[in-house]
Amino acid sequence: MRPLTIIGNWKMNGSLESNQALIQSILSLGVSEFAKNSKAQVALCVPYPYLPQVSHLLNQSSIAWGAQDVSDHPNGAYTGDVSAKMLQDFGCRYVIVGHSERRQFHQEGDGLVARKAKATLQANMTPIICVGETESEHDDGKTLVVVRRQLQAVLDLLQGQIASCIIAYEPVWAIGTGKVPSPQQAQDVHRELRLQLAKFDDEAASKVAILYGGSLKPDNAKDLLAMPDIDGGLVGGASLNAEDFLALCQASQ
Ligand code: 13P
Repeated sequence: MRPLTIIGNWKMNGSLESNQALIQSILSLGVSEFAKNSKAQVALCVPYPYLPQVSHLLNQSSIAWGAQDVSDHPNGAYTGDVSAKMLQDFGCRYVIVGHSERRQFHQEGDGLVARKAKATLQANMTPIICVGETESEHDDGKTLVVVRRQLQAVLDLLQGQIASCIIAYEPVWAIGTGKVPSPQQAQDVHRELRLQLAKFDDEAASKVAILYGGSLKPDNAKDLLAMPDIDGGLVGGASLNAEDFLALCQASQ
């Protein structure tokens, strides 16, 4: 049985003041107790400058925290980049890699995403590896071809370490649009990803959490999270609202 995993991705949102208010609400609504009692993994992935603030505010809670990107290099002349070791220095647990917004706006390819996942693992953190097809790929019936290619690049590089990763299926056309695949459509993609993992490593395939992301909201989460291969969510917009975030955590119960 895989534990429920709910990860908030704040993207490029927040301020010292609003972060404090949001986390206070999340804590006072009982999200930390929910995580503790249900043994769910709950985390917030926040912009780099706010990592120390969020780490401090979540200290003593059962909510973990993470970053939204990482360099594939250990150190050196890479202006503006942040290494895995630096994140680990602060006690970071999770790193999102290969988010479609990085692939789209920063031209990150499958090979780079795999190297970022490897750098994350080498620093003893958990990469949340995002895969997903664009709207035109979806319309052309290429969903499975695209997600298989994206996952394969990671499998080729990480080999036996895949058991320590989280995979997130985020159809690009569903992100921030209010459009969502039907639970069965999403399940079919998750199942396919798990079968691909199983071909590689049967035991890892049964353990790896495969999250759904893309307009996940309290009103659609219950049906999606009820599917057998959907182990939780990677949540954008709804993670910026404490009530919605709690409702998403509770949706699987
Ligand atoms: P939304 O939940 O805002 O659609 O974003 C999903 C996402 O990109 C999470 O990484």
